[in-house]
Amino acid sequence: MKIGIIGAGTVGAILAKSMALAGHEVFIANSRDPETLTEVFRDFENIHPVWKDELTAKSEVLALAVRWKDTRKVLEDLGDLNGRILIDVTNNVDENFDLIDLGGRPSSEVIQELAPSARVVKAFNTFKISKYLDDRGTGIISFIAGNDEGALNTVSELISSIGFVPYITGTLSFGGRLMNVKGRLAGKTRSKEEADSIIKEESEKEIIKK
Ligand SMILES: NC(=O)c1ccc[n+]([C@@H]2O[C@H](COP(=O)([O-])OP(=O)(O)OC[C@H]3O[C@@H](n4cnc5c(N)ncnc54)[C@H](OP(=O)(O)O)[C@@H]3O)[C@@H](O)[C@H]2O)c1
Repeated sequence: MKIGIIGAGTVGAILAKSMALAGHEVFIANSRDPETLTEVFRDFENIHPVWKDELTAKSEVLALAVRWKDTRKVLEDLGDLNGRILIDVTNNVDENFDLIDLGGRPSSEVIQELAPSARVVKAFNTFKISKYLDDRGTGIISFIAGNDEGALNTVSELISSIGFVPYITGTLSFGGRLMNVKGRLAGKTRSKEEADSIIKEESEKEIIKK
């Protein structure tokens, strides 16, 4: 796959390397000249640092790996995403890792609102990012949420390709909420049985609410 990663800090760089090791072509940008990234990715011939305004045209799938405070500007700058898959890796926390209040809304729904023409899939945000490089192929479950079936399938394929087990948690509203910081599926890795049981309990609560 051709993957564009917006943000080349801790998270963007690890995802880029993990995806490149699986054979994907990765285009990655920070807020500056791509030359600032040449050294970081010198050993990876399929990671290509580019200007951020080149990312959309070069990639089939985009991943958003910037801090929450920068999401609005980055998405405004990207403009019309025209049905592209946008993987939301962000967490709504500040520089002290304190939760940023979104009025109780799941953060990826806010991202979907900021990028209305994208097909947003929430992924890669529920445990320490370094695992995506260090623990490939060890059977760890990687949660995803989204409202578009085709996009969920594509991101599932991507997750499998890098050596993790995709697990669809539901829509951005339901699964996305559980995957949010402090959500029941966030903060550490889970077994399939634990995830199944949490999803079952939470689905039952939803039914009672209705
Ligand atoms: N740490 C984890 O284990 C973990 C796990 C899952 C999710 N997350 C989430 O992942 C996100 C990224 O975290 P991080 O630790 O990687 O942050 P980080 O190290 O601070 O990196 C942020 C990156 O975003 C870039 N950026 C900022 N504004 C931009 C713009 N306008 N256009 C293009 N690029 C821009 C920065 O570029 P410059 O260097 O040029 O400023 C930098 O490369 C956060 O939302 C975090 O909550 C973290």
